[in-house]
Amino acid sequence: MTAAAPHRATGPRVARRRRYLMCRPEFFDVTYAINPWMDPGKPVDTALAVTEWERLRSLYLELGHEVELIPPLPGLPDMVYAANGATVVGGRVLGARFRDAERSAEGPAHLSWFRERGFTEVREPRHINEGEGDFLVTDSWILAGRGFRSSPESHAEAQEFFGRPVIGLELTDPRYYHLDTALAVLDGDEIMYHPEAFSPGSRAVLRRVFPGALLAGPSEAGVFGLNAVSDGRHVVLPEAATTLAARLRERGFEPIGVDLTELLKGGGSVKCCTLEIRPPQD
Ligand code: ARG
Repeated sequence: MTAAAPHRATGPRVARRRRYLMCRPEFFDVTYAINPWMDPGKPVDTALAVTEWERLRSLYLELGHEVELIPPLPGLPDMVYAANGATVVGGRVLGARFRDAERSAEGPAHLSWFRERGFTEVREPRHINEGEGDFLVTDSWILAGRGFRSSPESHAEAQEFFGRPVIGLELTDPRYYHLDTALAVLDGDEIMYHPEAFSPGSRAVLRRVFPGALLAGPSEAGVFGLNAVSDGRHVVLPEAATTLAARLRERGFEPIGVDLTELLKGGGSVKCCTLEIRPPQD
């Protein structure tokens, strides 16, 4: 099972219109530490976080995407990281179940949001999974992270619910605690990732399945360069990831750097703030 993974674009990259869910960081703060990036002793400028986030949202709209909003809830400072709230593939919604008590209320809040909007194929998760933080969707597979947050059992649950093959990947570096901090889907079955974030076995799996993947080094991963969102042509990523941007350009993508430094204090960037709602025909 080897994916068609081109080293170079064969023609112009084509953007596909996406539907995203985001959550304005009105209550964003760092009041606890559940990943190594978070330091509750460091001041957070919530207004600045909102400004940065608004720019990201405007960018998606300028690129022609649809952006839905889930209302932020007081007492849930991490809710801005909407990617963690659910996983939506083919119109089916797998709810999230968080490892940490501080975020647990976000799961039901997202489930209600989807139910209220008429989604009927909605599953309350049995096992711990932190949504698209650990589930990334390619054309052929769902890539699933474990080791820090989502449980291995949640991988089987996702495979059964979505009817898509799930490839489980073991994360080993606490700085890359969610799969979306170490790997991003660019287009189809094309990905980029930071090999050192994974166990030796998982690295071997990634090499085997994605031989043409773009590999990112520690300096690119360390500025959250892999926490990127691609529509198939435009790749929105942290502006500090300049080397990665250049390499994406070589492959025919159009990288767009954004400044989300305030939200980095919670250990998240572009992808963490963006949940993709994939329609039934996907
Ligand atoms: N502070 C949040 C946490 O540790 C950040 C989540 C980032 N989200 C993501 N999709 N990686 O849970």
